[in-house]
Amino acid sequence: MKVLLVSVVLLYCAIAVVGSTSEASSANHVTCDREDKIDMAFLLDASKSVGFMNYKKVVGFVQDFISRFGVGAERVRLGLVYFSVKATRYFAFDEYSDKQAVLDKVGEMADRAFKNQLGTRTNTSGGLAVIHELFNENQRNETDAKMVIVITDGKPNSDKEATIPNADALKADGVKIMAIGVGDDIRRDNLEDIASEPYERYVFTTEDFEDLIARTEDMVQTACRNVEYLSCPEQESNDRIVDAQHAAIEKAIASLLETNEVLTELDERCNVDPCPSCFTRNDEFRSCYKAVPAAVDWPEADRLCAVLYGARLASVNTAEEHHYIKNQTFSSEEATSAGITKWWVSGNDLANHGTLMWAGDGHSVNLTVTGDHAHHCVLMDGTNHLNLVRVACGASHGFVCEKNY
Ligand SMILES: *[C@@H]1O[C@H](CO)[C@@H](O)[C@H](O)[C@H]1NC(C)=O
Ligand SMILES: *[C@@H]1O[C@H](CO)[C@@H](O)[C@H](O)[C@H]1NC(C)=O
Ligand SMILES: *[C@@H]1O[C@H](CO)[C@@H](O)[C@H](O)[C@H]1NC(C)=O
Ligand SMILES: *[C@@H]1O[C@H](CO)[C@@H](O)[C@H](O)[C@H]1NC(C)=O
Repeated sequence: MKVLLVSVVLLYCAIAVVGSTSEASSANHVTCDREDKIDMAFLLDASKSVGFMNYKKVVGFVQDFISRFGVGAERVRLGLVYFSVKATRYFAFDEYSDKQAVLDKVGEMADRAFKNQLGTRTNTSGGLAVIHELFNENQRNETDAKMVIVITDGKPNSDKEATIPNADALKADGVKIMAIGVGDDIRRDNLEDIASEPYERYVFTTEDFEDLIARTEDMVQTACRNVEYLSCPEQESNDRIVDAQHAAIEKAIASLLETNEVLTELDERCNVDPCPSCFTRNDEFRSCYKAVPAAVDWPEADRLCAVLYGARLASVNTAEEHHYIKNQTFSSEEATSAGITKWWVSGNDLANHGTLMWAGDGHSVNLTVTGDHAHHCVLMDGTNHLNLVRVACGASHGFVCEKNY
């Protein structure tokens, strides 16, 4: 995981350095150097409203986008479907494993001959259905992320009642959908109908096709960080806890955070978002937060915050911070389906029974904590207004990570 953090930082450094030495921001060049296996499909609106000249820009955008990823049978595999009246499979995941070949194939769509294929309708649902076939037919043993990038300029007007169900079916198979709307006719809610959540991450609207091209960098970053998002921990459970285990974990975390400090410094120099992927950021507290809906015991939760995100379990220092954390995504679908209602935070009195401390920042616990003093770890109890309660450290609950910056 350290390696992963380092490579992400280097990636962002590359962005900053290239960006600062070039004159126009459009000359920035974000690349995604991840080793992961990503299946990425483009779904392009080929309705006449897009216009052929604009279509050529979309083709350029797609080529530029693809060029930033490592293409190959063991890396990023690509598929492309376009749609208007009906949907047409242009190429599937197993057809090209060479980047230049795939770029050439995409380039052919800018040929005049293609102009005749532009249709009059926007059959988005048909496009999603054909994309789903691509994913079903060409599965790899281990795929780190599956994603679809939809580019459209209008609202679905053909078989439109199937749009949401077809998008949901893809999402249910673990496919993330990024929806890009171009131009004045597009409504954000049409994009939200198909996109994955959180929408701030997966929905893009651009004024025109030039603007689309100008924003390639952001979109590449979203696609690239998507993999981290998907690697959020799976449910795991672990009952035992002993103080020795806690001490060992503290030590491991300390050395990890030392590395992380270096990384954060690099991050700052690169002027990138100090928050790990899928965290919410609060500039007042200078912290990033994330509720992770995986059920684990308290030490494991603290360890996971560290190894996954360079963070710690959250320290709830003030009523304002408590209020802010309460207002995070505790009722997410994921949490509900995992049956998670309680969330570990860093409060504990393992080191000195009777004196609760926030392990995350070393401060003493000032807010009211209820519960039995025989228990040593603090959580936010979703069955009781997310108040702070002490319970047995070995119980399995979700957890809230916090990273200061
Ligand atoms: C929409 O596209 C799908 C997939 O190509 C096709 O099966 C369906 O018939 C199309 N719908 C209409 C109304 O043409
Ligand atoms: C992928 O799965 C097939 C069939 O189960 C198996 O033969 C093959 O060894 C697997 N490949 C890898 C790289 O795990
Ligand atoms: C908590 O209480 C201690 C002792 O009264 C105080 O020094 C500290 O500033 C308080 N912490 C916060 C975050 O208010
Ligand atoms: C709580 O969340 C909602 C919706 O995300 C937001 O509008 C509101 O400002 C938040 N309140 C606080 C106190 O953070």
